[in-house]
Amino acid sequence: MLLRSVLISIFALPALVTSSSVIGGVLSPNARNIKAMKRASSNDTSTRTVPTPGKLRVVENSGVCETTPGVYQASGYGDLASDKSIWFWFFAARNNSDTAPLITWFNGGPGVSSMVGLFQELGPCRIKNDSTGVDLNPTSWNNNANVLFIDQPVGVGFSYGTESVNTSELAAADVWKFLQIWFADPRFNKYASRDFGIWTESYGGHYGPTFAAHFLEQNAAIQNGTHQGNYMHFSFGVKDFDLGFRYFPHFSESLESSGSFGTYSTSWALLLGF
Ligand SMILES: *[C@@H]1O[C@H](CO)[C@@H](O)[C@H](O)[C@H]1NC(C)=O
Ligand SMILES: *[C@@H]1O[C@H](CO)[C@@H](O)[C@H](O)[C@H]1NC(C)=O
Ligand SMILES: *[C@@H]1O[C@H](CO)[C@@H](O)[C@H](O)[C@H]1NC(C)=O
Ligand SMILES: *[C@@H]1O[C@H](CO)[C@@H](O)[C@H](O)[C@H]1NC(C)=O
Ligand SMILES: *[C@@H]1O[C@H](CO)[C@@H](O)[C@H](O)[C@H]1NC(C)=O
Repeated sequence: MLLRSVLISIFALPALVTSSSVIGGVLSPNARNIKAMKRASSNDTSTRTVPTPGKLRVVENSGVCETTPGVYQASGYGDLASDKSIWFWFFAARNNSDTAPLITWFNGGPGVSSMVGLFQELGPCRIKNDSTGVDLNPTSWNNNANVLFIDQPVGVGFSYGTESVNTSELAAADVWKFLQIWFADPRFNKYASRDFGIWTESYGGHYGPTFAAHFLEQNAAIQNGTHQGNYMHFSFGVKDFDLGFRYFPHFSESLESSGSFGTYSTSWALLLGF
């Protein structure tokens, strides 16, 4: 099941480019969109292509995937270091984006790109069954939340650079650094004060709680003045959809104590001290 979605994710995007590029010898709108997406990964509004540590490279409103009029989107890289770049794709909420929470999405794996979630699960568009393009997803999670998809750790999906992360704790530290860079950017600074959520699946049963623990620890250090940075206003629990990872000790404890699927996100919230 997991392997299948990894394979689909690896092959679906190239297929999208080649099959729609050749129709009638004229680029279809979708092929143009995919080209725009490729550009989004290689330059920013000032056409910078070289990573600058601590900064973002951003393309705003590429027109790819989210085509609802007036809905803001941005994609690009956060450069943690000259050799570590994290790919993100952000979609503002279709409804009330000025007050909607900010949620982050991480696929699991380890090693699965969050573009699987974006294009096959909860994103604003879905890849068509015949791979010729995408359809708008009317039930996208960005209907009512600002959604930030992140490929991590470095080496997964479009994130690239020196692959030094080999534990969830190290992954958490890099994602926190990325989020700090993202919040520091004037385009995204306003989201730092929003309610913040972590959403993930599958191996994310490891990532989610590890990330939350790290972020909360960083929050505490920001509050007591030992660290500078943006405080994250956790309000959601961390929820993992895949019960297959119930052996992860904290996760299984919380499942057992809550006694049912329906309440386990609440028990997560308790476990993590929200
Ligand atoms: C990215 O670079 C290409 C070629 O260098 C340019 O045509 C394109 O407009 C740039 N895109 C953005 C969004 O800056
Ligand atoms: C696409 O394929 C899925 C899985 O086979 C199927 O459930 C869905 O109905 C198909 N969608 C369309 C528009 O044919
Ligand atoms: C936006 O909010 C309105 C009012 O709550 C609701 O009727 C509508 O379905 C929402 N739109 C989306 C895309 O969720
Ligand atoms: C992670 O990599 C470091 C450096 O290569 C190594 O010392 C460490 O044992 C590795 N940890 C795990 C869990 O593989
Ligand atoms: C500040 O908070 C961090 C994280 O909880 C903790 O490790 C550190 O000891 C605290 N420092 C002080 C001076 O309270």
